[in-house]
Formats: sequence, structure tokens, C-alpha cells
Amino acid sequence: MTPTTAPECITVRTEGRVGIVTLNRPKQLNALNNQLMDELGAALKAFDADDDIGCMILTGSEKAFAAGADIGAMASYTFADVYKGDYITRNWETIRSIRKPVIGAVSGFALGGGCELAMMCDFIIAADNAKFGQPEIKLGIIPGAGGTQRLPRAVGKSKAMDMVLTARMMDATEAERAGLVSRVVPLEKLMDEALGAALIICGFSLPSVMAAKESVNRAFEGSLSDGVMFERRIFHALFATADQKEGMDAFVNKRKAEFKHQ
Ligand code: CAA
Repeated sequence: MTPTTAPECITVRTEGRVGIVTLNRPKQLNALNNQLMDELGAALKAFDADDDIGCMILTGSEKAFAAGADIGAMASYTFADVYKGDYITRNWETIRSIRKPVIGAVSGFALGGGCELAMMCDFIIAADNAKFGQPEIKLGIIPGAGGTQRLPRAVGKSKAMDMVLTARMMDATEAERAGLVSRVVPLEKLMDEALGAALIICGFSLPSVMAAKESVNRAFEGSLSDGVMFERRIFHALFATADQKEGMDAFVNKRKAEFKHQ
């Protein structure tokens, strides 16, 4: 959905070729409601379609990346409401269709749908105050935005079961040790670190960046041999790009590559 008015639940800005979306419902600790998810999907799609953008960052506030799906909004939903309205699938999964990299910059609580949203990012850089959890069991439900599937892939079955069944939170140190996040930095350095990573990615050839993301994501679907074959075909295909010629010529001639993203 393309909003006709300015978004209210997120803010959007750019920094060079980096598109930055900040979740912005501070009073509700960025609880994720339909309006926010519609706005987020629209913003990410707009950046994905923008030739001047090479990478995105999704972040929240210092206190909360997002404390989950909006419980107040969900409380009175019936089965018919969520089934007919295609709750979650309808607008939470837009991020899965984004082809440029999305870095999750997480500080504070990333709980329930907040943890699931962070896991839908391509990688997570966490502040040292980040706390991850899937506490849905306390509400008489289970994770509903991929938590039972992405968390075990990230941290293994035992830790995922522990978190999903006991609702305990994982701090940033444990999250890094378990492989849920790629880096942990002091809170005040979070955005600098995320921007630094995004700017590095923006400096590479966009077709190869998009192909790399697509190939790594294949590791989570299907068999190893199918995944390796997919990677091989994409690897071969990149020899058709001007940027492959430029990147290799620059290396051979000991100069900096000037990628044209084609
Ligand atoms: N939905 C709606 N409102 C929320 C919320 C949520 N998920 N999380 C926090 N808020 C609201 C609180 O109701 C509170 O509002 P008021 O000031 O109007 O009372 C405000 O945010 C601040 O929260 P707290 O006063 O509770 O702050 P705290 O620092 O004491 O606790 C917290 C922080 C531990 C994150 C606590 O707010 C909490 O446990 N939140 C709920 C976490 C949760 O259960 N998430 C899973 C939701 S279900 C889900 O996500 C389903 C799915 O998989 C898709």
C-alpha cells in the first residue's frame, strides 16, 4: 500500500545511499500495529525501487526496537478476523520481498513480533542494551511472524525452545554468542556502526550485493545441493555484468573499483 499522507508510526530519512527507517510509536514501545506495518512496507518498497539507494537500516528507539505486535489491538480479534484479514501475512511479510539489504539496528526490547521483525532483516547489529525474546506464550498464543522458524535456524533448537517455551529474554552478549546478531556495540555507537556497514555495502556493485543476499537466503530453503547449484548459476551470471569487469580490472591494476551498479 502506498500511503497518500506522511507516515505517522515511522520516520524515514536518507544518509548518502542509505535509506533509514525508524519505528516511531514511543509511548507503546514501538508495538507493531497494522498502520505501522503498512507504512514500513511502503517505505521499504520505495527505497527498494529507488536507484539512489543501495542499502537500508531498520531501527527503533533506545528503549525499544519493538516490544511486539500491538497487544491492545489484537486482544479482541477473533479467529474469523485474523483468518479473513490475513493477519501478519498481509503486511508484515513485505520485508521479505525487499531485494536490497536491510540491516536491523536493534537497541532495547526486541520482543515477540519485534524479535521476529529483527530476524527478517538480513543481519542484526545490536546495542549492548538489546534484549531479545519470544514471550507470546505468556499471552496464550505462540510467535506468529516466523519466530518458531527463524529463531531455531539462528540459534539452534535448544535455545529457541528455551526462549519460546519459557518466555525468557536473551541479552545482547548471549545473542551474539548464539549467532542471532552479527555484532554488539555500545548503545551510543549503534547507528554509526550500522551506517558504517551500510555505506560499505553501498560501495559495492548493487547487482552483486542483491545476488549475494538472494543466494544466502537460499541457504534457508531446500537442500544443500540445490542451494549450491543456485549459488553457482548466480555466480556465473555475474560474469555478464560490467561491474565484474571493473572490480577485477581494478584489483589487477591495483586501483580502487568504480562500480556503476550494472
Ligand atoms: N503492545 C501494546 N502495547 C505495548 C506493548 C505491546 N506489545 N508493549 C508495551 N506496550 C505499552 C504498555 O502497555 C505501556 O503502555 P501504557 O504506558 O499506556 O501503560 C507502554 O508500552 C510501556 O510499557 P511498560 O509500562 O510495560 O514498560 P516496561 O519497561 O515496564 O516493560 C516490556 C517493557 C517488558 C517490553 C513490557 O512492556 C512487555 O512485556 N510488553 C509486551 C511484550 C510482549 O508480550 N510482546 C509480544 C506481543 S505478541 C506478538 O508479538 C505476536 C507475534 O508474534 C506477531
